[in-house]
Amino acid sequence: MLVGIFNSEDEVAQAAAKKIIDVFDFQPESVLGVATGSTPLPLYRLLREAYQKGTFSLKEGQAFALDEYVGLPVDHKQSYRYFLVNELVGDDKTGLLDENLRTPDGNAPDLADAAIYYDDAVAAAGVDIQILGIGSDGHIGFNEPSCSFASRTHVGALTAQTRQDNARFFASIDEVPTQSITQGLGTIMEAGAILLLATGKNKAKAVKQMVEGPVSARWPATILQHHPQVFVLVDKDAASELELTDYYRQNWDSYHRHI
Ligand code: PGA
Repeated sequence: MLVGIFNSEDEVAQAAAKKIIDVFDFQPESVLGVATGSTPLPLYRLLREAYQKGTFSLKEGQAFALDEYVGLPVDHKQSYRYFLVNELVGDDKTGLLDENLRTPDGNAPDLADAAIYYDDAVAAAGVDIQILGIGSDGHIGFNEPSCSFASRTHVGALTAQTRQDNARFFASIDEVPTQSITQGLGTIMEAGAILLLATGKNKAKAVKQMVEGPVSARWPATILQHHPQVFVLVDKDAASELELTDYYRQNWDSYHRHI
């Protein structure tokens, strides 16, 4: 893992945007794995600005969501499809075509079938670069503690902590769905490169476990220690429980001097 520690969430977003823009510069038909939640919002704003300036485009690319709530209509403002269309799709955003944004179907009559169908689509496309957030309970996608490291796209229950964390997007916690359909940890681990973004104090413990803790299903993001190309992009608050920050800064600078 390469850990980049930045002064602000804007700097985190800039570092992530630069890596994504480099990938699409090299290969415009690349496949971007996209996350939802508040953390990637500054990044998506930068990608829209870059598209409007002509320095970046998802027009020839594809995007695959990590997850979707079960049972929310697609036109519900908190559905992840709605969120991602709003952030990325169209000529006034990043040029991404609606048909090239893929999201799991959280309303399928047979959710297990929908999960297999989605997993096959992700694997066939092959994600080149995956954006991830992290839950305060250590989840990535909606892979909650105890999730198998080998899991594929599946339906799972959200923890009470995750529903509490996400209640801010809904009128009340009772409206937060109880289940999701999410790419599995095994699915996510097949991405070519991973950018994990975390900002704010309430992520500090999960970041500490992910980077310096033992690999354990108690903290699902720790599986990323086994991925060869992970960039952990954090602000000072999210980095505040890390022990080896001097080394991470030195290693980050050294890596970026040599590419
Ligand atoms: P957040 O969510 O960006 O809204 O904090 C991250 C996550 O739950 O993965």
